[in-house]
Amino acid sequence: GDKGPFSNEPPVAWDVHTHAMFAVALDDAKKSFPRQVRPVVDGIPVDGGKEMISADPNAPDRAVAAVACADVGTVENAIAAAKKAFAAWSATPTQERAEYLFYAAQQLRTNRHDVAALLVYESGKNWSEAQADICEAVDFLEFYGREMIRLSKPRIASELPGESSRLEYIPRGVGAVIAPWNFSLPISVGMVCAAIVTGNTVVYKPASQTPAIGQAVYDLFHSVNLPNGVLNFVPGPGSDIGDALVAHKDVGFTVFTGSKEVGLRIIETCGRTPQGARQVKQVIAEMGGKNAIIIDSDADVDAAVGPVVQSAFGYMGQKCSAASRLIVLEENYDKFVSRFKDAVETLIFGPADDPRTDLGAVIDPAARKKIEDYIQIGQADGTLLTRGAPNQGSGHFVAPGVFTDISPQSRLAQEEIFGPVVCIFKVKDFEEALEVANGVPFALTGGLFSRSPANIERACREFMVGSLYINRGTTGAMMKRHPFGGFKLSGVGSKAMGQDYLPQFMYCRTIVENT
Ligand code: NAD
Ligand code: ALA
Repeated sequence: GDKGPFSNEPPVAWDVHTHAMFAVALDDAKKSFPRQVRPVVDGIPVDGGKEMISADPNAPDRAVAAVACADVGTVENAIAAAKKAFAAWSATPTQERAEYLFYAAQQLRTNRHDVAALLVYESGKNWSEAQADICEAVDFLEFYGREMIRLSKPRIASELPGESSRLEYIPRGVGAVIAPWNFSLPISVGMVCAAIVTGNTVVYKPASQTPAIGQAVYDLFHSVNLPNGVLNFVPGPGSDIGDALVAHKDVGFTVFTGSKEVGLRIIETCGRTPQGARQVKQVIAEMGGKNAIIIDSDADVDAAVGPVVQSAFGYMGQKCSAASRLIVLEENYDKFVSRFKDAVETLIFGPADDPRTDLGAVIDPAARKKIEDYIQIGQADGTLLTRGAPNQGSGHFVAPGVFTDISPQSRLAQEEIFGPVVCIFKVKDFEEALEVANGVPFALTGGLFSRSPANIERACREFMVGSLYINRGTTGAMMKRHPFGGFKLSGVGSKAMGQDYLPQFMYCRTIVENT
């Protein structure tokens, strides 16, 4: 039936009741570990090849999942199953396809605490971040469902007498969905549901670090009785199965979110059309960022510090949208730096399942090492302002690194670190601020705190990022209100969460009839 207009899922209210319910869900989740994760092909769980463990980043001795990884043969079977399911699924009426999404949203609301508990233990989200991810996943289902209903209405291209001409969308075929670990639930749900609601069938590969969350995504669609073969699940390392999946002649498109390195490799692979292919490969790739916030000479520093800290250190800076460069006009520099330092030093470190925790562990030992290596570079290239006041436990904790006196050309200032590391630059005027802000190969998010209408207007024209946020932080984009995605080396494709996203998953046909 008619669902009414889209509205964002309200954030969880942490009253006594919800607090108690979530504490119970966390306890129950712990008892369910290690979960057994296996590939699913055509609705049937199948044996995997090599075994892999996913561990809790905050308590690495806790095995969250034991995974039987898909091998290349399983991936090929999954592609064959998706190809077989395509005829019936693509012919399923749009409204019916959208209903699966609305039903899945309802199921996720019902199970929200259990799924959020898994996000805490497998991806190290704190309580509020885990719950926010549930809301975002629900939003993707509710929004893309409605979007597809809107796009399925015939579009008239011409109303000349004697001619009828209309445009209509048709699905592309079999798609590969390849997800990151950092927003493992919402980004996976978003990419998967976009691909299937547009009439495609999917082979979905979660990140190696978050296979149990991947399984939860599969289970969500399974729980609403999505027909077999429409969604197939292939957990396993990208280095083992990624190329086989993307390059396969029957895979018509790949939708990817992850690092620049892997994204560029996928784009290259999709540039080659394999023998026997019947279509040109489409690729949608959302990649990294090196996002800046400018603090203008007249900015309200007290109003800026909170959102800037949240943008830089929320989820330990492991967001593509995180701010890692702060560009401060010299009039405000000393004041901002001192207040920012104080604020960073009040952040509370701890395990993610403790409700008091602001910052938990980073995702795995490799991430921890990479971040510590960049902190070494910072100590050689600049001045360490603070490392916060960490209270570290047994997990993969990294104390923040805040640096000043860094050259904008330093690797620390140019490369995505994906951790709690920030460079602060002092600039003499707004011109220089924009130059530093734009002087990186990425263009994902950017922020400006200012009270000057002229500078705000200038930033709107010249600050070249996919999402420019004025007088607010750079993270936490909301469905429909803040369509999300970058350009330069931050990605290709139209913005997720917005109205231009779904057409990329389809071909457009023009039908002209002389009447
Ligand atoms: P990653 O690139 O390491 O991995 C992403 C996915 O690609 C994983 O599923 C991985 O297994 C797979 N993969 C690895 N090698 C592959 C190959 N050869 N072929 C196919 N797939 C392969 O990224 P990550 O560490 O999971 O996520 C962090 C990165 O994601 C950061 O760079 C971050 O900025 C980016 N990110 C971007 C957005 C956005 O919207 N722009 C959102 C979230 C994360
Ligand atoms: N959607 C996420 C954010 O805006 C990436 O922070």
